Parts: sequence; structure tokens; C-alpha cells
Amino acid sequence: MSGRPVVVVTRRLPAAVEEAATREFDAQLNREDRPLTAAELQDALRSADGLLPTVTDKLTADVLAADPLRTKIVANFGVGFNNIDVQAAKARGIAVSNTPDVLTDATADIAITLLLMVARRAGEGDRHVRAGAWTGWRPTHMLGRMVSGKTLGLIGMGRIARAVARRAHHGFGMRVLYTDPYPPPPEIAADLGAEARSSVEEVLAESDFVSLHCPATPETRHLMNAERLGRMKPGAYLVNSARGDVVDEAALVEALRGGRLAGAGLDVYEREPQVPAALLTMENVVLLPHLGSATEETRVAMGLRALENLRLFFSGAPLRDRVA
Ligand code: 8YV
Repeated sequence: MSGRPVVVVTRRLPAAVEEAATREFDAQLNREDRPLTAAELQDALRSADGLLPTVTDKLTADVLAADPLRTKIVANFGVGFNNIDVQAAKARGIAVSNTPDVLTDATADIAITLLLMVARRAGEGDRHVRAGAWTGWRPTHMLGRMVSGKTLGLIGMGRIARAVARRAHHGFGMRVLYTDPYPPPPEIAADLGAEARSSVEEVLAESDFVSLHCPATPETRHLMNAERLGRMKPGAYLVNSARGDVVDEAALVEALRGGRLAGAGLDVYEREPQVPAALLTMENVVLLPHLGSATEETRVAMGLRALENLRLFFSGAPLRDRVA
């Protein structure tokens, strides 16, 4: 390769990251921050040595069929990489990396935020005050549910779930249950005060709060369907800071309508940025716009990590965060 590698950065990134990208690469930035179309992503694959995409860029097998193909690496900005068909990328000889670790704490914080907000009716209370509807303190006003001391069920026990377990157990004295096909070593779970269960259903049956922490794969699509939502304890709460696909949104709406669930806290949706209209009017649902990793510190760290992946790849060194 002659000169600096050409890298297409698909969205605006924090200034420090864009500056670093420009210093190191022949970086093509997206100053307008407009999501690229499939045709534009294909142009990028034809003209750039590397791509730095995000969750909003759907790198499907069709898009990855771009020809002639110049791109050798897709360094995703994000830990989740369900926006990329990694098998198709692999088949075309494209390396794929992600940005784990650096967003673990920020995302765990959002899961706990959702849990507290939904249980303590924080979104509803905030709307109430802003609407001028608050008539003053009274003993029976807007009573929520305790979080401290309750049972939290974690579906998936990877990095983010463990960070949630630490906060929940050591911070709120919660009993923590989890299930994961690839469980952590027992001493790690013990340190988090977390007890293993052998199935999702077993976790659901015992938990007052259920928080989802599995990746979006064909196997986890609609993992929380009508049947499993029906296995949750009556009056339990569901929190999703993983991926929208993991929950059957139509079934969730029904479970909330029927009063089976006390509430839900969501940061991710099946068809972002669309949110099911029925949820918008439910007071017992907290809706965030995919803020899991949205802190200044975290987004800079994610960008620098993606750049590090590009740097390693172009220097011929092993790719630390390779996912395909
Ligand atoms: C990212 C996320 O910011 O990293 C992930 O998987 O969900 C995030 O919070 C987002 O996906 C951008 O790519």
C-alpha cells in the first residue's frame, strides 16, 4: 500500500478521535453525520482500505458483495457487531474488529439507571413535575418498588452483566442470578455474589428484575418472546440495554398491557430509531435513545480503540479485538 491507508469513518466521532484519525490515516470523515446508504457503504468498500462503521451501518452480505473490493478491515465502533454479517465479511477476506472493555462501565451504569428509573417511577415523576401536576407531598403519592434487596436476573454473564452484578450486589444488596452458555469461572461469580441457573426460564421464575446482556445473534432473536415474558414473576420488571432484537416488542407491549409486568426500561429497540407507538404512552416504561455508551469519556475511548485496531491491522500486527 502506498501512502497512508484510506479509512472511511461513517459517522461523526468526538473531536479528539477525528483528529487522531486524520493524523494517522487518510481519513474520510462524515462531517454532516448523515447515515450512509447501502450504495454509499459499497462505495466506501470499493475505495477505502479500512472502514470505521457504527451500529447504524448495516453491512449485510449484499453490501459486502461490493466489487471490486478494496477494504481489508472493518473496525466497528461498538462492542456489538450485529450490524455486520461477519460470515460474509470473512468469506470476502475482510477482518472485523469491535471495541470491547472500554464501554463496559458506561453500559452497566445505563442498565442500573433504567432499573432504578423504572422501579422508582423516575421518568413518570419527572414528567409529572414538568407538567405542573404536582400538588405536593403525600404519603401515597407515586409509590414505586424497592430495588435494594431484591433479586436481579441476568441473561448473559459477559463483561457488561458482570459489571451490573457488581453494582447490584455490592451497591444495592441485591441477590443476583444469571444464566450463560459460557459461564464465568466460579470464583468470579462468587466475587460478584452471583448464583448460576441452568436456563433462562429458571432465572425468570425467581427474579424481580430481569436485565438482558446477551449479544444479538440468530439464536437470541426474540429470546424474550410471549412465552418467556409469561415466565417472569408477576409484577417483575424487564430491562434491556443489549439489543432490541432480543425482545419481541409486540409481545412486550402485550405483557405490559395485561399488567403481567410492572414495567420495562429500554435503551434499545428492534427497529431503531422507531419505538412502538404503544410504549410511548405507557407511564411504567422508561425509554432511552440507545445511550449505553454515551459518555464523552467512553465514546472517545471507543474511537481510539477502533483506531488502534486499524493501526494494528495495517502494521501487520495481530488484531486484539478481532471478531472475524
Ligand atoms: C455503541 C453499543 O455506542 O457498543 C455497542 O454495542 O450498543 C453502543 O452503545 C453503539 O452500538 C455504536 O456503535
